[in-house]
Amino acid sequence: MDKLLIHGGISLNGEIRIAGAKNSALPILAATLLTRETVQICNLPHLYDITTMLELLGCMGLEPVIDEKLNVEVNGGTIKHFNAPYELVKTMRASILVLGPLLAHFGQAQVALPGGCAIGSRPVNLHISALQKMGADIVVEDGYINATVDGRLKGAHIFMDMCTVTGTENVMMAATLADGQTIIENAAREPEVVDLANCLIAMGAEITGQGTDTIVINGKTSLHGCSYSVMPDRIETGTYLIAAAATRGRIKVKDTRPDILEAVLSKLEEAGADLRIGDTWIELDMHGKRPKAVSLRTAPYPAFPTDMQAQFTALNAIAEGTGSITETVFENRFMHVHEMNRMGASMHVEGNTVIVNGVTSLKGAPVMATDLRASASLIIAGLVSENETVVDRIYHIDRGYECIEEKLQLLGARIRRVPS
Ligand code: UD1
Repeated sequence: MDKLLIHGGISLNGEIRIAGAKNSALPILAATLLTRETVQICNLPHLYDITTMLELLGCMGLEPVIDEKLNVEVNGGTIKHFNAPYELVKTMRASILVLGPLLAHFGQAQVALPGGCAIGSRPVNLHISALQKMGADIVVEDGYINATVDGRLKGAHIFMDMCTVTGTENVMMAATLADGQTIIENAAREPEVVDLANCLIAMGAEITGQGTDTIVINGKTSLHGCSYSVMPDRIETGTYLIAAAATRGRIKVKDTRPDILEAVLSKLEEAGADLRIGDTWIELDMHGKRPKAVSLRTAPYPAFPTDMQAQFTALNAIAEGTGSITETVFENRFMHVHEMNRMGASMHVEGNTVIVNGVTSLKGAPVMATDLRASASLIIAGLVSENETVVDRIYHIDRGYECIEEKLQLLGARIRRVPS
């Protein structure tokens, strides 16, 4: 298992390009199951989770083709099996996204029930109950969700008890081929939901209200192929900006979308970052100054994203002053706190809040990545530490960050991957 070796203490400086959004690309790949025609997907990020989703489509009999420009073409017409096995679902919970499309298009799906994960129990009850309301017959047994429907799913009025991103996406995809109108209330407003909706519209779906909490879908009898380019990754964008702020650096991130990062950018300004913003780029300059601690509370979009919480905890670790970070989306997302304390940080957890008293410097240590975003926060902590940090279990980071050590090297960081 590879590790990352970081020699900290260098201010990041330079320019990088942001990859396509993982959390858009995954549902868009699942959406290819809604048509028998070819869907071409451009700007896919090179990530382990994307490989897992392509593998999942492959084990159903699809043959994704990667062209010379690294775009992927998928044709749902060659499907032979309708199941998502546990071996793949356990490595990537987003595999649940094939449930809605399989059921809506082929009338059957067998998807392993995702278990809990490091950041909480993460049930999929809302996905299941919404599809049942649309007429699906669903039995959960032996660790599998077995779903069938006689004929087409029926449009339904669905109120989501909690704001769920993949839940909204699963139901929205299923509704595109349902008989009649589906209304999803308390829908997730995340930009990735909007990106998926735009791809579905390009495939012939009739959807309105994406980006608001009420999405209306008028079902069609079939969808067609299209070519679609995945939007830029807002979490990758934010992670590099925070890394630059924590190291008192100056960077420009290109090919991104500042308009979907408002909550994060305003916290960076509060931390003392000087920002310049264009249509597709963001420049951050700390003018060599130590960041100021910020307090924040995570919540569904457009509020502050839970996927950026750990990275801001790392920034607060070495910031001036005390900041409190409250997590309201997942129940157990503070595993990085203990690792950062081992590096000399001063933070403690009280319920769903972590109180961080900024220290002037951290000390490198061997640390363990526990989940995707926690790994990113440990890398940031390593970049601001004196001497060497070794981050173990970095397969987590490869799930969601494209060539992270190469991009950080481009920004001047001393970081390298070593096989263990
Ligand atoms: C997605 C993102 C993930 C992000 C999260 C919250 C993808 C592939 N992943 O995950 O990066 O951290 O949104 O922004 O897009 N819940 C239920 N029952 C359900 C579904 C969800 O109780 O049936 C709860 C969850 O336990 C959690 C909350 O709802 O507390 C939000 O989770 P959800 O939005 O569903 O997260 P994901 O879609 O899995």
